[in-house]
Amino acid sequence: MVAQKKRCVLILAAGKGTRMKSSLPKPLHAVCGTPILGHILKASQSLNPAAIGVVVGHGAQTVLQTVQDRLADWGISAPVEFIEQTDLSGSGSAVKAASPFIQKFDTVLILNGDTPLLKTQTLCEMLNTFEAQQAGALVLGVTVPDPSGYGRIVRQANGDFQKIVEDADADAETKKIAEINSGMYVFDSALLQTALQQLTPQGPKHEYYLTDTLALIKAQNRRVVVFNSTDYKQALGINSKAQLAQAQQIMRSRVAQKLMDEGVTLLQPDQTYIDPEVKIGADTVICPGTYILGETVIGKNCVLEGGVYIKDSQIADNVTLKMGTYVEESTVAENCQLGPYAHLRPKSVLCKGAKVGNYSEIKKAVIGEGSKVNHLSYIGDTQMGAGVNVGAGTITCNYDGKNKHQTIIEDHVFIGSNVNFVAPVTVREYAKIGAGSTITKEVPAESLGIARARQVVLENKGVKKND
Ligand code: UD1
Ligand code: CA
Repeated sequence: MVAQKKRCVLILAAGKGTRMKSSLPKPLHAVCGTPILGHILKASQSLNPAAIGVVVGHGAQTVLQTVQDRLADWGISAPVEFIEQTDLSGSGSAVKAASPFIQKFDTVLILNGDTPLLKTQTLCEMLNTFEAQQAGALVLGVTVPDPSGYGRIVRQANGDFQKIVEDADADAETKKIAEINSGMYVFDSALLQTALQQLTPQGPKHEYYLTDTLALIKAQNRRVVVFNSTDYKQALGINSKAQLAQAQQIMRSRVAQKLMDEGVTLLQPDQTYIDPEVKIGADTVICPGTYILGETVIGKNCVLEGGVYIKDSQIADNVTLKMGTYVEESTVAENCQLGPYAHLRPKSVLCKGAKVGNYSEIKKAVIGEGSKVNHLSYIGDTQMGAGVNVGAGTITCNYDGKNKHQTIIEDHVFIGSNVNFVAPVTVREYAKIGAGSTITKEVPAESLGIARARQVVLENKGVKKND
């Protein structure tokens, strides 16, 4: 019986990343909220490989721990094997360290661990071309406006692949070549193993270059294919903070383009910070300076004014978020209005048509249908019914220094300004609370609760005229 051809992906993420000048290992730097390595793992997973190998080295424990904890979130179902490279002497030795892993497979797709903009479709096309052309090796080559820093693809007179020359080793003529090695390859596993044995240290840092294996495979009379893509941006390798910012900008513009294609109105796409997983309905208007992050879903016909920040939240249709509103891990139903400068802390729920206005903070509370918390309030650990009107400056005193307590405010309660609720406390439906009250006991339905000192007037104790 002929064994089925098996494919794996190998990601090289052991390098020191010296040029980042950072204490955080390079693969963990985030691009649009997800570590670089997360983007590469997600793209790898969509190829449905038999396994994914990750070579770790510099900051190995941190990288391993962070990635392992997030594999499920990223939807990685292929078995992931971490391989430690102890001698950090180049991409060639990284692959050598992974020899026991790759020899279990027929074909290996190798990806540098610093190219988060890679596209699944290109990787698929690379694998298909590799198979169709019965190649020994294939490299993704792109022509870039500024090739400095990259390995150059040198071709023979007939146009065939000849070799890759690293930037550090290139002469003036070679440096002019604009076609670069993207750091994404497909190899016949057995040929790669043989070529790895033949590598010798190169360049100023005496490194083993993975890129040298291509010429070695060619010397075995096996076909080495350069697969070209015109989308050169997907090959951007992150070696510095400037390249990190550049990658972020490219990914954000891809996200913005996709949202606009789906009917979202972005007033200034390049000044809007939206993570790739975010979903937004048609005709929602997004003003500049907004941050929409994590697993957020926003409905249709919403308006997000400038400075709005939303993370891991669900916002339904026709919601207006005015300037400076901050929403975290919360749910907002349709037709609600927030802000300016409203703050929803985690586990807040706004029911249909609720309003949370200027400088109000809500935490772990339900604000019932059509209820209003319009001015300068703090509502925490509260269950509020429908049609409640909360006066300016109302505070739930939910914390006694040790424990948090609940406030329950039933439907159609009317709360005057500057009221304190000392929790645990319940206000029954249709009750009214006098302004300035500090409520410590239950207020029955349809009654007026008032708890404040009576006013005293002392004559001639005011300011003396003409004093
Ligand atoms: C590499 C390529 C270059 C290509 C460029 C594309 C080599 C020799 N050169 O250069 O031709 O144009 O990528 O972005 O491969 N790594 C290890 N162990 C090591 C050294 C590196 O795992 O000992 C990993 C790094 O973590 C990184 C990848 O290999 O993900 C490439 O290393 P890097 O130092 O970034 O190579 P470049 O100089 O960018
Ligand atoms: Ca690199």
